[in-house]
Amino acid sequence: PHSFFLSRHGQSEYNKSLKIGGDSDLTELGEQYALDLGKFASEKICVDEETGEAKPARLWTSSLVRTVQTARHIPHPKIKHPETGRNEWIQMDHRIYRSLDELYAGVCDGMTYEEIEQMYPEDFQRRQEDKFNYRYPRGESYLDILSRLDPLVMEMESYREPLLIVGHQAVLRLLYGYFIGKKREDCPRLSIPLNTVIKLTPRTYDCEEERICLST
Ligand code: G3H
Repeated sequence: PHSFFLSRHGQSEYNKSLKIGGDSDLTELGEQYALDLGKFASEKICVDEETGEAKPARLWTSSLVRTVQTARHIPHPKIKHPETGRNEWIQMDHRIYRSLDELYAGVCDGMTYEEIEQMYPEDFQRRQEDKFNYRYPRGESYLDILSRLDPLVMEMESYREPLLIVGHQAVLRLLYGYFIGKKREDCPRLSIPLNTVIKLTPRTYDCEEERICLST
């Protein structure tokens, strides 16, 4: 069966200054991860490990700068069509989905958690108590993201090629949680570390999981 590869973007300027949201660029560390991920994709995703030949694979990112930058060293090899064997060259197909964008924190976008706790103490408390359902004022909840991810999950299930998704913490918690069969209320506290590719290979009722840490 084909695998899904999930990765957060490399460290962004906002990550570094502990701010949430925004649309900042990668830091130098983040750029290093982008290079590492490009190498990983060319060796482990776009290639048939047995024959060493290029094989079709797909790439999805969000519409935010930090995921697109993280994906920019991923090769898009042109390969012979695997089924017809004819000279119909196909490429690793890169799609940008706004529905993969990070949870939008509304009025709290661009703030640190410390600033949120000071300015909106009641909201901060409510979110601790029910992180899944809590919706930021003028922003989103995890539950909101789940509904925009629904059509993407359908599409993922129909693919026959490996798929690499370069996304964001909240969005990947939900996708990962869905595929490993977690209760949705538990997803907001799952650990999806930076600098790590999570490889999921679907089995009949669950997924085989491997975590590959790429930090150099
Ligand atoms: O705001 C974006 C974060 O990646 C989501 O993290 O749900 O733990 O606050 P959080």
